[in-house]
Amino acid sequence: MSTVDLTGQVALVTGGAGGIGAAVVRRLAKLGARVAVLDLDAAGAQRIASAVGGIAIAGDVTDAATMPAVVEQVERELGRLDVVHLNAGIGGGQAGIDDALNVDRYRKLVGVNVDHVVYGLCAAVPALRRQGGGKIVITASLAGLAAMPADPLYTLTKHAVVGYARAAGKALAADGIVVSALCPGFVDTLLLGAAKEEFDAVAFPLLTPSDIADALEAVLAQGEPGEAWVIQPGGQASAHQFRGVPGQDVVLGRV
Ligand SMILES: NC(=O)c1ccc[n+]([C@@H]2O[C@H](COP(=O)([O-])OP(=O)(O)OC[C@H]3O[C@@H](n4cnc5c(N)ncnc54)[C@H](O)[C@@H]3O)[C@@H](O)[C@H]2O)c1
Repeated sequence: MSTVDLTGQVALVTGGAGGIGAAVVRRLAKLGARVAVLDLDAAGAQRIASAVGGIAIAGDVTDAATMPAVVEQVERELGRLDVVHLNAGIGGGQAGIDDALNVDRYRKLVGVNVDHVVYGLCAAVPALRRQGGGKIVITASLAGLAAMPADPLYTLTKHAVVGYARAAGKALAADGIVVSALCPGFVDTLLLGAAKEEFDAVAFPLLTPSDIADALEAVLAQGEPGEAWVIQPGGQASAHQFRGVPGQDVVLGRV
């Protein structure tokens, strides 16, 4: 049984029209929150928002102006902001280690998977501080903890946001703001593209969007600042235990 009760609270989910985001929107609403759904897909955002009595916002998270405007709109229309799920993301689709680098594609990848997380966190923090604290959950990936040779650029972006969540988590803990990252293995969503057929052909076990909503609920209930939660099929989601590195006390500000 869940210990999370979001009655009276307001949540914002980016990439909330599809896959993982849509499952999370439904879960947050079930837990009592009013939810704002932000997505490039205006019709999809409206569909999910209407289903849960929330609000839909159409926007591109790669635009630096989007997240501040969205946070302002959420506070204006729903009165406050307590939980933010920075979830929008795209696949890399190229190795990025040869001469054929598609620079536009690379910039877009970094825009959605990294810039959006920075813009979103920076825009959300003042609003969460106004409530005396809150939660920010970033959808990273297992590729944020392990190397994925099939997609080094996606690996780059997801390692970046895991590092950001860990550092920002420590930096914001004293404000009562808990920043966490979700690191799922492969999830059955449109993001898989053509790989879905290959997974199905070998009966590879895939996570479902609902598994990620379960993990998000667990993070809201028990997450500590700066954790990165691993989610794999058949297992209980849990915080990854990072090994220490020589000299880490300096960057942790302990000396
Ligand atoms: N599917 C997987 O195997 C998997 C595994 C680990 C992590 N993830 C991560 O989970 C997150 C959600 O992915 P998903 O699998 O649900 O994919 P998805 O494609 O089903 O959903 C992504 C959503 O983000 C939205 N979006 C994309 N670009 C946007 C932009 N510029 N502005 C606003 N919205 C935008 C899309 O319209 C879509 O609704 C991503 O960050 C992804 O990297 C996915």
